[in-house]
Amino acid sequence: MTMDIGKLDDEARNILRGNDRGGYTLPTAGLYPYQWNWDSAFAARGFAAFDAPRAWVELETLFSGQWPNGMVPHILFHKPDPGYFPGPDVWGADLGPIASSGISQPPVAASAARAMLEADPAAGRDRAAGLFPKLLAWHRWFMDWRLDRGAVCITHPWEAGRDNAPDWDGAMAAIDPVGVGEYTRRDTSHVNPEMRPTKDDYDRYIWLVQRGRRLGWDEARMLEYTPFRVADPTMTFILLRAQRDLRAIGQALGEDTAEIDGWIATLEAGAETLSNARLGAFDARDARTGEFADCVSSASFLCWYAGLEAPEMLAVYDRVTAACRYPVPSHDPDSAKFNPRRYWRGPTWGILNMMIGQGLAEQGHEARAEALRRVTADLIAEHGFAEYFDPVTGAPAGGKAFTWTAAVWLTWARPSAEAV
Ligand code: DGY
Repeated sequence: MTMDIGKLDDEARNILRGNDRGGYTLPTAGLYPYQWNWDSAFAARGFAAFDAPRAWVELETLFSGQWPNGMVPHILFHKPDPGYFPGPDVWGADLGPIASSGISQPPVAASAARAMLEADPAAGRDRAAGLFPKLLAWHRWFMDWRLDRGAVCITHPWEAGRDNAPDWDGAMAAIDPVGVGEYTRRDTSHVNPEMRPTKDDYDRYIWLVQRGRRLGWDEARMLEYTPFRVADPTMTFILLRAQRDLRAIGQALGEDTAEIDGWIATLEAGAETLSNARLGAFDARDARTGEFADCVSSASFLCWYAGLEAPEMLAVYDRVTAACRYPVPSHDPDSAKFNPRRYWRGPTWGILNMMIGQGLAEQGHEARAEALRRVTADLIAEHGFAEYFDPVTGAPAGGKAFTWTAAVWLTWARPSAEAV
């Protein structure tokens, strides 16, 4: 199809401006009325395409909510909004300077900061120097509290960002959400419930929040008994990548990066523990039982983004991407659990495509990277800046006017002058 690139650029910039609340950017108004951690780092990358100072502010605002233990929460509740559940009263997480959730999210901020610094080293140097110790403290928090055999675990499905992925079905089934009580979801009043997690999932999400609250969000106490702890490819690959990017920032600033070298070695070994030989792919592994989830997900293909060669994953990638018109599906289309509309159980997400595409290109798989970029551009041009998309039909799903989809367009998916 012919694509009006200028018009799409304008639309993407307008979405970022429209979701800007002054220093931070909503993922989309209504459904997500606060600052979300990884959404915000992608927003920074989007702003960097046309307003670099505003991009740095986005990351600085995110780190203004950092906890004394280094953790950067997955949601910062800057201003109360009754349209969202669970809000700050439910989380009861008052350890940081800003009301927040009590868990984190995949750490993409260092990678955004590196891209921004390299785009304009002179203007970015002071901003990057201000963020460096904060990024280091956050990455150290993961290394201190979230490792299992060197792979990075999540303690809540929301921590992976892939809330209802089949990867967690086994671990979630082991939770009996006894005493969770009555509550009113707000997500299903903003979008079609068929596109959102089920009530069974939600009961467990809330039960885990209530438990964290009872334990005062104290990592040491929470580690004494872990009802949910899954080593996750999203977290492991993204943190490994982020450590490499943080090391590059440190080197550019003349900092000592020996500690980061050690972390990279640990995570490289940890990534190997996610390789499920039976499945022939990287997979989530329940840290409590040692069982693999037997799930090929879009996160499995973040191996290249993590800087691994992983040649054995190429055939898996080719099979999965050939199975639908608009890859990369968040769950294997050949699996009985595949659902093309339900959030992380099948739909395609632009941010995953961008990270997978970057990784493919860096590992020398240029043709695959370019095909993925092109299909993502088609998806956005044909179906708009939706939160996620049906991988079979391309139909838009979830929230509209979505910040990270706009950012993906501006920073990666839009055809460059050469590709037109
Ligand atoms: C939600 O509320 O659906 C979010 O995914 C939690 O982070």
